[in-house]
Amino acid sequence: MPEVDAVVVGAGFAGLYMLHYLRDKLGMRVQGYEMGDGVGGTWYWNRYPGARCDSESYYYCYSFSSELEQEWEWSSKYPEQPEILRYLEHVAERFDLNRSIQFQTKVTSARFDEDRARWEIETERGDRVTARFFISAVGCLSAANLPKIPGIDRFKGDWYHTGAWPHEGVDFTGERVGLIGTGSTGIQATPMVAQQAAHLHVFQRTPNYSIPARNFLMSPEDQRRIKDNYPEIRQIARESYGGFPYKLTLRSALDDTAEDREKHFEQLWAEEGGFKFIYGSYFDLLRNPDANDTAADFIRRKIREIVKDPVVAEKLCPKDHPYGSKRPPVDTHYYETFNRDNVTLVDIRETPIEEITEKGIRTSHGEYELDAIIFATGFDAMTGSLLKIDIQGRDGLTLARKWQDGPTTYLGLQVAGFPNMFVITGPGSPSVLANMPLCIEQHVEWIGRCISHMTEEGLDAVEATAEAEEGWGEQVLRAADATLFPRANSWYLGANIPGKKRVFMPYVGGFKPYSDQCEEVADKGYEGFVFSAAGARAG
Ligand SMILES: Cc1cc2nc3c(=O)[nH]c(=O)nc-3n(C[C@H](O)[C@H](O)[C@H](O)COP(=O)(O)OP(=O)(O)OC[C@H]3O[C@@H](n4cnc5c(N)ncnc54)[C@H](O)[C@@H]3O)c2cc1C
Ligand SMILES: NC(=O)c1ccc[n+]([C@@H]2O[C@H](COP(=O)([O-])OP(=O)(O)OC[C@H]3O[C@@H](n4cnc5c(N)ncnc54)[C@H](OP(=O)(O)O)[C@@H]3O)[C@@H](O)[C@H]2O)c1
Repeated sequence: MPEVDAVVVGAGFAGLYMLHYLRDKLGMRVQGYEMGDGVGGTWYWNRYPGARCDSESYYYCYSFSSELEQEWEWSSKYPEQPEILRYLEHVAERFDLNRSIQFQTKVTSARFDEDRARWEIETERGDRVTARFFISAVGCLSAANLPKIPGIDRFKGDWYHTGAWPHEGVDFTGERVGLIGTGSTGIQATPMVAQQAAHLHVFQRTPNYSIPARNFLMSPEDQRRIKDNYPEIRQIARESYGGFPYKLTLRSALDDTAEDREKHFEQLWAEEGGFKFIYGSYFDLLRNPDANDTAADFIRRKIREIVKDPVVAEKLCPKDHPYGSKRPPVDTHYYETFNRDNVTLVDIRETPIEEITEKGIRTSHGEYELDAIIFATGFDAMTGSLLKIDIQGRDGLTLARKWQDGPTTYLGLQVAGFPNMFVITGPGSPSVLANMPLCIEQHVEWIGRCISHMTEEGLDAVEATAEAEEGWGEQVLRAADATLFPRANSWYLGANIPGKKRVFMPYVGGFKPYSDQCEEVADKGYEGFVFSAAGARAG
């Protein structure tokens, strides 16, 4: 069986940097595997109309290479999917990563051989390879969730999931389209599909709070200003709660008078747009229900102002969860789209979907005839892609069994019982509540440091202790309980997948405290991890 030092699964932001770090910085033999036929991950798969980032481009990118930072030009504040994919393809070419990745190859199993302290990895194509380290960069929003609505096989039209969109694109001109789902994806796709389709029905289960993007093209001056200030921008991001380069505000929403607060929200809504509304306004929107209400009320008032039909406006107003307790979407003319004659909102809380028929979607109210259905129904988040791999650690313990009551990790990076396996952006990591590329870089660099330490000390296996894992699990839950996050039925706690154990998965204690804690663990000789020395095992 071929032997390498490390296998990295996935070629998105995480896999690409991990591969580069291990191969080019640490001089290791690394094999990458990727299901798709190219790099990009999220940006390879999510090609639906309107797909774009809603972190701003100047920080939704790698910071590890200042040359890369200086040479890449972002066209706008929120570039579209093709541009982000081009960026990741450029990174792969620039650092010569493609030669270390086997594409169109799905990793199906990984088994830890205790005697040799090596992982044996198999792919769907029948490849077998052994590696000292098995590193998951499979993504936390990469396993599409296709709801089990009866009748999908009968449907005579075309259907699509946004997370596996046809590469050649889809032309909806003249079609009657149904779109299910009003998360970030549905909210981005709706205005674009509405411009093409003869008629668009949006099937909404839970209304969402969306903030306008206020996208703009970057001028040469914008580019110059950003490039000249990158060290400072990155420093602010690294010191922040969410990995965003927004100055930390220590002000409570309740410190301001109603009038001042309104002015502040209005400025953020009308001029800034995007994540600044939540991460750059008041520190307590996700901590104090009264503070949250001020923002939620403001957004509901905006919806009622924008949407002309008061009945539709009311249906679009979220009332059952605090603002931001589900990942806040960012849009371009989402609410305005419901003023179009060719767009109808179907409230499927009121009239639930009963089945998909040959001709369309039947709700308790009646049948909607459609030529195409778009599932913007999200992902089996954080654990979905990882658990599709049959992973077996020490003593024959499978990850699926270990996580049957919900995922557990130490620092989101390792799982007790699974030596030399590292997870990037796993459960217990703050990544999904943060600017992901920055968080990914932190994970990769921490894993790299740990592996370097092992090489220097002649250690061949590292494993989180059960106590450390338990302690981290408690810290993750304590952090969540201090916030309003658990008050929503979100994918953060697996509530979007019927039957999935409801456990709050991300660490919401903040990027900076998290990265400080990771550094402290490493400085203290990797507290909470045990190592074994090379040759200490049966040969
Ligand atoms: C539409 C969309 C927009 C987003 N926008 C933002 C944003 O603006 N800001 C932000 O911070 N985050 C955003 N995110 C989150 C986004 O997922 C991350 O920012 C980032 O792209 C994740 O990178 P990754 O490498 O960890 O995972 P991914 O990009 O998901 O890559 C994982 C890769 O692993 C591969 N893979 C999985 N399982 C296997 C297997 N068994 N064998 C082989 N290959 C496998 C997949 O094919 C995939 O290519 C967005 C997510 C979505 C879905
Ligand atoms: N530009 C960006 O930054 C961007 C864009 C897209 C996605 N993302 C990332 O990806 C994450 C996932 O976004 P997403 O919009 O793809 O998924 P999502 O946030 O999970 O939203 C899925 C939507 O589908 C609905 N839904 C799910 N199952 C359903 C069913 N059986 N019947 C009817 N409706 C159903 C959900 O309703 P309920 O709310 O009632 O469950 C929800 O409205 C985001 O939170 C974000 O992190 C980012």
